[in-house]
Amino acid sequence: MSRPPLAPAGLQVVWTRAELAELRAGWSGTVAVVMTMGALHDGHAALLRAAAALADHVIVTIFVNPLQFGPTEDFDRYPRTIDDDLEICRRAGVGAVFAPGRGEIYPDGEPLVRVNPGPLGEVLEGASRPGFFHGVLTVVLKLLNLTRADLAFFGEKDYQQLTLVRRMARDLDLPVRIVAVPTVREPDGLARSSRNRYLTPQQRQVALGLAAALRTGAEAAATGAAPETALAAGRAAFDRHTAGAAELDYLALTDPDLGPPATGAARLLIAARVGDTRLIDNAPVELTGAGTEGP
Ligand code: PAF
Repeated sequence: MSRPPLAPAGLQVVWTRAELAELRAGWSGTVAVVMTMGALHDGHAALLRAAAALADHVIVTIFVNPLQFGPTEDFDRYPRTIDDDLEICRRAGVGAVFAPGRGEIYPDGEPLVRVNPGPLGEVLEGASRPGFFHGVLTVVLKLLNLTRADLAFFGEKDYQQLTLVRRMARDLDLPVRIVAVPTVREPDGLARSSRNRYLTPQQRQVALGLAAALRTGAEAAATGAAPETALAAGRAAFDRHTAGAAELDYLALTDPDLGPPATGAARLLIAARVGDTRLIDNAPVELTGAGTEGP
């Protein structure tokens, strides 16, 4: 991470684990962490506000984690906007930002030991992005250890990530409370994402096909459609909206923990490629009919 000349007034920016440890040692009360890869937008701002409302101190981490990018993915072109990010943090009332370089997080190079996300890490995003959740959970665990946060805030936008982080905290007895924050959408329904800035105006229109699929699938489920019928309705809405200009990776219906869906609360998840940009989204669904289809 390249250092900006000056941090905005009122915001403390630390770059090394030693500086972070010193800062953390001076805090009493509850500490919340919001982990980010920068390129902050309104979705992140909602996380920051939720954290500030619940904790005495909020630390935001900004680190583009190389471990969670595949060899053909967008690590090099991932937007790096540190000055704007710091300003968003300041406006949200965040006290401190930890913006380490790669050598601070991985001082010995790529870690030999990584968190294994288990079978839930191999489906949906994990099926399309092998090793992705190993990289995510490894850095999340490291940042929890470095910040010693009592609370950690994650967006529902990355629903599988949220589910796996919760599962890691439970399965590995991590002393942290994981708090979920609802997805923030543009007025037309597009989920806020750092990757939206890659989209041309035409592609942005096509990208609305993801939200259309979720909306239509959720409506069908709520009116009693079986899972496969709700999925077919969502798929048809996606095809209608994108007219061949986007490639669907998956549209899946699961229970809230990503297991097979049953009557009651469920989750509809979608991933698609619009041009070179891979987008994901999801929505809560109420399954009023019976069904058991898995992801
Ligand atoms: O959601 C993200 O931005 C990243 O996956 C996270 C949690 C910061 C880990 O690098």
